[in-house]
Amino acid sequence: MSRATHRLGVVGWPVSHSRSPLIHNHWIAAHGLDATYETLPTPAEALPGLAKRLRSGALKGVNVTVPHKEAALAFSDAPEPPAKRLGGANTLWAENGRLRAASTDGAGFLAGLGSTPSRAIVLGAGGAARAIVAALRDAGAEVTLANRTLARAETLAEEFGAAALPWDGLSEAGAADLLVNTTSLGMTGQPPLRLPDGVWDGLSPSARVADIVYAPLETALLTEAGRRGFAPVDGLGMLLHQAALSFEIWFGVRPAVTAELRALVEADLTA
Ligand code: ATR
Repeated sequence: MSRATHRLGVVGWPVSHSRSPLIHNHWIAAHGLDATYETLPTPAEALPGLAKRLRSGALKGVNVTVPHKEAALAFSDAPEPPAKRLGGANTLWAENGRLRAASTDGAGFLAGLGSTPSRAIVLGAGGAARAIVAALRDAGAEVTLANRTLARAETLAEEFGAAALPWDGLSEAGAADLLVNTTSLGMTGQPPLRLPDGVWDGLSPSARVADIVYAPLETALLTEAGRRGFAPVDGLGMLLHQAALSFEIWFGVRPAVTAELRALVEADLTA
């Protein structure tokens, strides 16, 4: 059997749910590249071996997902500033035998959004919130964070020059043209995210309501946003655009996020 010259994959534990192989193999085919991208189920104790395979070139690059994003950064010899600032990496590759790490999550979120809001409310204060808040602040947006555990929101807010509110004080957030859910609420198997009327009333009429959850694609939050006349933004945009930015790091070309690819991933998510 012939083997592709370049091997890539997504590293996680577990990782069988990942749509990254579908997305990257679509682009590999579209660009006629001699490469293959697969799931690489990796327990923590196998990470040093993985780093070795990257440094040696046996692997051209990997995406990193739960629970290894922080560890990925620790293994790298030369993190990109965004990854270092974010405390985690989702993209690894080697240059001259040195392991490099970057995070494309925040930039992927903004690319999926298409334009920068001026005032954003971010729900949650975990790793995903961190990436998104950093990208929003770098792009010049004002950010208010709300989180069930207020202390986490306050720590993030202080680090990135944002404001913090307790979960039950969300109605005080004021006008915003973006609200984004980065919590796990709304994910399959988790309770839905329900916002008090005061939050909806405070959004500007043209506000977009985004969810980074993509399973299911239409969360209760997005259904409610649409019902109230706000533009819903599902989690697929971020998923596809963070992948496109990783692909560009490895292959030097930014692949297109097309309607065809979106439909392909959507069909897989609902299969
Ligand atoms: P990730 O790195 O994917 O962002 P995380 O660090 O585990 O994941 O963060 C999950 C986020 O979802 C947190 O903001 C968490 O709130 P806490 O900081 O209070 O834990 C939020 N979250 C999870 N379950 C929640 C629930 N039932 N109600 C409200 N927030 C919840």
